[in-house]
Amino acid sequence: MPIRLPKIPGSQITPREVFMDRRRFMQGATAVAAGLGGLATGEAVAEQVSAKLDAPRNSAFVVKDELTPKKLATTYNNFYEFGTGKGDPAENAGPLKVRPWTVEITGAVEEPMTVGIEDLLKMQLEERVYRFRCVEAWSMVVPWVGFELNKLVSMVGPTSKAKYVKFYTAVQKDTMTGLRMPFIDFPYVEGLRIDEAMNPLTMLTLGLYGETLPNQNGAPVRLIVPWKYGFKSVKSIVRIEFTDEQPKTTWMLAGPTEYGFYSNVNPAVDHPRWSQKRERVLPGLFASRATEPFNGYAEQVASLYSGMDLKTYF
Ligand code: MTE
Repeated sequence: MPIRLPKIPGSQITPREVFMDRRRFMQGATAVAAGLGGLATGEAVAEQVSAKLDAPRNSAFVVKDELTPKKLATTYNNFYEFGTGKGDPAENAGPLKVRPWTVEITGAVEEPMTVGIEDLLKMQLEERVYRFRCVEAWSMVVPWVGFELNKLVSMVGPTSKAKYVKFYTAVQKDTMTGLRMPFIDFPYVEGLRIDEAMNPLTMLTLGLYGETLPNQNGAPVRLIVPWKYGFKSVKSIVRIEFTDEQPKTTWMLAGPTEYGFYSNVNPAVDHPRWSQKRERVLPGLFASRATEPFNGYAEQVASLYSGMDLKTYF
């Protein structure tokens, strides 16, 4: 399988001091920083931190369809750490402790670092309206707020060994009521190839509908990878690891015949137990929409997979 990895120019490899200095130049989210910055380090806040995010919409990334009602996007969720029912995360994730929160960046990078959520909120944020397609054959259209993951990646400077990126969700035994599940090992882990992680569509996401992420949607920081099934969009990230090995992801381990590493939205490859040809656009009840290859983002990402048989690498 020809995997084409982008060369990361030396100019994009930024030492830690420069990153810290650069924060002075980052705009946006200042109101939020003010709102959230008052929490003393070590203070555990067992409640949702909700605040407005002042992020301009990037018109180059806007699906023109009607937005999914916010109420639905925040009450019809998958977050197995809080239960398997669609309403469970909204009902149970309230106690998730989202402050203090840090994301550790480790592995094959020049400058490993631990970044606080307050620093991530100081990045230049933007809003993008993406179609979000779940492997369960439903889709939503959601305005996400965040920034391109590649901005963070280029700051830590991946080495030539960094062929994949592995993402870990937090494990909070005292707040996550769903951790004892027979078929899933926690932490929830996901992975991308480095060129997928660097693609401009891949977003490190801090909010939706102009506000910080509600706990049930993966507060305080999650991934959004719009051309892949929703389960690749890992929630409540605490660690990002660069590696030369393809990560074994939660769903590959739970059901290797059903879930592959790539998980690109693909109407031509059915899930073994159901069709992926069509999708139910929530809140609709019927599979009214034909699923698009790469969830409609083929123009931007199909070339990442040229020469690969996507039936084999599903
Ligand atoms: N991340 C974690 N940690 N745990 C999960 O169970 N579910 C995934 C993904 N990220 C999941 C997760 C699945 S299956 C989907 S479809 C999306 O989150 C749902 O995101 P949403 O609830 O914001 O729509």
